[in-house]
Amino acid sequence: MTPYRELNKEQLQVLKAQLEKEFEEVKAKGLNLDMSRGKPSKKQLELAMDMLEELKSTDKLKCEAGIDCRNYGLLEGIPEARRLLGAMTEVTPDKIIIFGNSSLNVMFDTISRSMTHGVCGNTPWCKLDKVKFLCPAPGYDRHFKITEYFGIEMITVPMTPTGPDMDIVEKLVSSDDAIKGIWCVPKYSNPQGITYSEETVKRFARLKPAAPDFRIFWDNAYCIHHLYEEKDFLLEILEECEKAGNPDLAYKFLSTSKVSFPGSGIAAVAASPRNLEDIKKHMSIQTIGHDKINQLRHVRFFKDIDGMHEHMKKHAEILRPKFEAVENTLEKEIGGLGIGEWTNPKGGYFISFESMEGCAKAIVAKAAEAGVKMTDAGATYPYGKDPHDSNIRIAPSFPTLEELQTATEIFVLSVKLVSVEKLLAE
Ligand SMILES: Cc1ncc(COP(=O)(O)O)c(C=O)c1O
Repeated sequence: MTPYRELNKEQLQVLKAQLEKEFEEVKAKGLNLDMSRGKPSKKQLELAMDMLEELKSTDKLKCEAGIDCRNYGLLEGIPEARRLLGAMTEVTPDKIIIFGNSSLNVMFDTISRSMTHGVCGNTPWCKLDKVKFLCPAPGYDRHFKITEYFGIEMITVPMTPTGPDMDIVEKLVSSDDAIKGIWCVPKYSNPQGITYSEETVKRFARLKPAAPDFRIFWDNAYCIHHLYEEKDFLLEILEECEKAGNPDLAYKFLSTSKVSFPGSGIAAVAASPRNLEDIKKHMSIQTIGHDKINQLRHVRFFKDIDGMHEHMKKHAEILRPKFEAVENTLEKEIGGLGIGEWTNPKGGYFISFESMEGCAKAIVAKAAEAGVKMTDAGATYPYGKDPHDSNIRIAPSFPTLEELQTATEIFVLSVKLVSVEKLLAE
């Protein structure tokens, strides 16, 4: 296929007329398809339905600690849930606390607590003139919304195929004590599906922050969410931090949102003993305890980490054909045209698409015109502003395979049309 840039003006005009005709035809179908949010499909949700049958009789409601899970007690979570989620994120049960139904909620609370009460005895962030956060981008829009909400200045750090650009991270973190944290999705990142390399993780663990209350917000949301037998490997950050003499440097967040039920799973934080004590001081004021019935239900259903891995294989069976449908259509339709690049992740929930500079917003608008909803262009950058207007997040999980195929075809048509228009305008 001839790259679009090599076509002359007349050829581009002919192509534009063809694409416009095709576009009007699909638009006339009045479709309503959604590739915007990383939600499991109905079929995936069905996989965990038996969990709801687990606690039917009263003799099943005691946890290992001998406590009736229907009643108050065990602020840190039931032992078996700490063991299960600990195994999920590769830490021992004493290093993890179980929370409620959402890890994003815990991240919000962590920032909120740092603002009002400070981190481990340091000055509350709200009393400082300036608080800054590093935001590897493209990244997760809801992370950026949290820091924006608290008025924290966000600094974009470019992503590389091995994780955030660590030269920049090291330089900024060691030279500016207003920088208090960094958002990271280290495995099958949202949206690129990148897993940080061993070198990147080691460099994170060896950071020498100017601020004593700097923390890495290590959002391990996709830790066991593999699509293939051949899995990405991520070095365990807390152990690396300990080895580097920086035990308190990172908080690890995770949940079972995309293992069991989003919004009805269980979330957790893993961290050093000092960080966990700091968290618990506040948590004990905030709540008498989280939902232990749900914790118990999860453990009874999955049994152990092996059970969880087996369950994730069933998710992968459903998700893999969807990822491949998008990737194959992109390759077939625009491979070699020089109008877009995309990632082929081995896990997680997203494919990241890079259009020609200055085209992403127009592509998303074009797809919407034909009834395909995408994540807003720009959402993957702090303040919703992509400096190159080129990144688009594709979420293949929710639609059926058939819907996804149609939606992807409309997406590539939108990419082609906007790219031709851009080249003609140049
Ligand atoms: C990176 C990342 N973290 C956290 C979440 C939300 O997790 P939870 O449902 O536990 O709040 C998502 C959901 O898409 C995500 O992509």
